[in-house]
Amino acid sequence: MFDIEKIRGDFPILKQEIYGKPLAYLDNAATTQKPQCVIDAVTCYYEHDNANVHRGVHALSERATADYEAARKKIAFFFNARSEREVIFTRGATEAINLIASSWGGAHIKAGDEVLITHMEHHSNIVPWQMLCERVGATLKVVPINDRGELIMDEFDALLSERTRLVGVVHMSNALGTINPVKSMIEKAHAAGAAVLVDGAQAASHLLVDVQSLDADFYVTSAHKMYGPTGVGVLIGREQILETMPPYQGGCDMISMVTFEKTEYNDLPYKFEAGTPHIAGVIGFGKAIEYIQGIGFDAIGQREKELLDYATAKAEVFDGLRQIGTAKEKACVLSFVLDSVHPHDLGTIVDREGVAIRAGHHCAMPVMQFFKVPATARASFSIYNTEAEVDMLFAALKKAQAIFA
Ligand code: ALA
Repeated sequence: MFDIEKIRGDFPILKQEIYGKPLAYLDNAATTQKPQCVIDAVTCYYEHDNANVHRGVHALSERATADYEAARKKIAFFFNARSEREVIFTRGATEAINLIASSWGGAHIKAGDEVLITHMEHHSNIVPWQMLCERVGATLKVVPINDRGELIMDEFDALLSERTRLVGVVHMSNALGTINPVKSMIEKAHAAGAAVLVDGAQAASHLLVDVQSLDADFYVTSAHKMYGPTGVGVLIGREQILETMPPYQGGCDMISMVTFEKTEYNDLPYKFEAGTPHIAGVIGFGKAIEYIQGIGFDAIGQREKELLDYATAKAEVFDGLRQIGTAKEKACVLSFVLDSVHPHDLGTIVDREGVAIRAGHHCAMPVMQFFKVPATARASFSIYNTEAEVDMLFAALKKAQAIFA
């Protein structure tokens, strides 16, 4: 049973008022709120166990290391990685993609090769590939989208060729909510001899992700969009590929032996974790994973679909509202523009009514360019949101319309 009152009670931040109105937090695609258990796990680490990992022989360091590695185990299990050696902690999905572009891309992508991404990528899955392509003389190709904000799969098939070295695709679009058919894209890419990176920053708190069943070569995500802390994320990579990749950054922990003549690198996953990691963040990430598991993706999927359907039905009959992103397969994101009110004004006005949404390009400017809008307003839902909060949003939109009428 999905107990919304209990779930809302898990998130202390939701209890507050904004400008005297109850907070309706509908900006979950930017970052989710954190349940008390995650806050407690981070606090407990700093209050009781704070020490560096993999370095000390003292009790605190042993406890910190055990908790850090226990989180890796949980995350490996959650994503069904083949082993913990495939789970590399990063600062977030962005750093994970930069790691892949720099290390794997630098070693495998040469002049004349192609990198195939899609028109709905977040900037973090565009710019690192542009930078790499410029550096090595490769070409960036882009799978177009249709008016509903779905990938045009015939174009994907046509663009995939023996020159394609890597396909980079977002699992769920943060700007549109579209869920992409990544499994079949991976199959096709592999048949063409290309590796695949899936950007799961938006998807991983909404969909069950099984990296083995997907057969993804690289899957990346950020903890902060999964009820975990900011500043930490994960790259799950196929071990055989990670073994062939040079380190991304040099420093401590990623080495096994250093002399001035030569350095020997550490084993996976440490080869890619230079320097002191975000220990508290990783421990909090592990707790966030447990929290999601405690609710389960069946309940999460069903509840979030109810909310999206409820909001979409309201949007469809709202005068002057144009939805941006109406894919058949979508989750939890209602992106829209209103006639006569700029999204930024809208964001400010609804904020005064206690409703937090994002207004802007959502770090996906090419999506805005495709739909010929400077920005959109975006409400994005999570397990703790309610129909009453959706009603607050639409009441606030009415007010905004009245102000600008
Ligand atoms: N990429 C984040 C968003 O969608 C920040 O808002």
